[in-house]
Amino acid sequence: MPAKPAQRLKGQIAIVTGANSGIGAGVARALAADGAIVAINYVTHPEAADAVVQEITEAGGQAVKVYADVSKEDEVQKMFQDIIQQFGTVHILVNNAGIQKDAAFVDMTLEQWNWVINVNLTGQFLCAREAAREFIRRGPQPDISKATGKIICMSSVHEVIPWAGHVNYASSKGGIKLLMESMAQELAPHKIRVVSIGPGAIKTPINHEAWATPDAEQKLLTLIPYGRVGEPADIGEVAAWLASDESDYITGTTIFTDGGMTLYPGFATAGLRRVGLHHRHHHLHRRRHDPLPRLRHERVKPCWPTDTKTSFRPCCASSKGRNLAC
Ligand code: BGC
Repeated sequence: MPAKPAQRLKGQIAIVTGANSGIGAGVARALAADGAIVAINYVTHPEAADAVVQEITEAGGQAVKVYADVSKEDEVQKMFQDIIQQFGTVHILVNNAGIQKDAAFVDMTLEQWNWVINVNLTGQFLCAREAAREFIRRGPQPDISKATGKIICMSSVHEVIPWAGHVNYASSKGGIKLLMESMAQELAPHKIRVVSIGPGAIKTPINHEAWATPDAEQKLLTLIPYGRVGEPADIGEVAAWLASDESDYITGTTIFTDGGMTLYPGFATAGLRRVGLHHRHHHLHRRRHDPLPRLRHERVKPCWPTDTKTSFRPCCASSKGRNLAC
């Protein structure tokens, strides 16, 4: 991403966790394009972190890679110490690192539960605590930014949408909602802003199976009124804006960035499965003339997912009891 003329984050140091792939990499690119020096946190695949650093550097930005498993207190503290030693302070934390370990609820192991909660929720607590400590220690720098510090938590549409087959993940995101809100309430007097981004389906490795084939993507699109699966850059743009002074009066809220996934898309067709816009118009047109139109629509109701390894494959049953892929 080439440098942006406004350079809204010039002179600011940002740590982005899990920035060696997916949404984290998209956020790192966007912050760097807006002038921030970005620490690319990684826990596995250091070569992928090197590649993001190189990409940013070649585009005229500044970035370094930094190791830490965000679920380990000592490693998080060391990461902050390293970055503060190198650059003097930190202004922006993007709490992005997150994983999915999916299983049907009755089969979910304690290990799968703990792993997801430790990385997604405890990891955000540990990093945010170090960031807030540093913001308060350093104090305001009004020439650099109106807020003393900014913490951006990567949540998900699943902080509000329940997700069968992914209860560990949905619980971690529900937890992030109140972690973020409570931190925002407590830290506002220090002029620290805390916000979340709630991405919907974004094309990243975490949900690769949900969009990798045209068929899978078509099914996924039935959940996205705006009609396209998101890209990491969509989230990057929002993160850069939330880190900038342009959003200085925003704290304690989640910005859903989801093409309308949280708008209960099923209600757009009153519970009827939409086959396509053309057919919908046809259906609406017919309805004026035919009190009982049945053409190309089936009433569907959700049932339990059978394949919990894929990150997005709901199954449905028709009113006649036949199984349908939604
Ligand atoms: C999950 C993705 C999923 C999306 C929408 C995200 O938080 O990580 O796997 O596609 O939510 O359900």
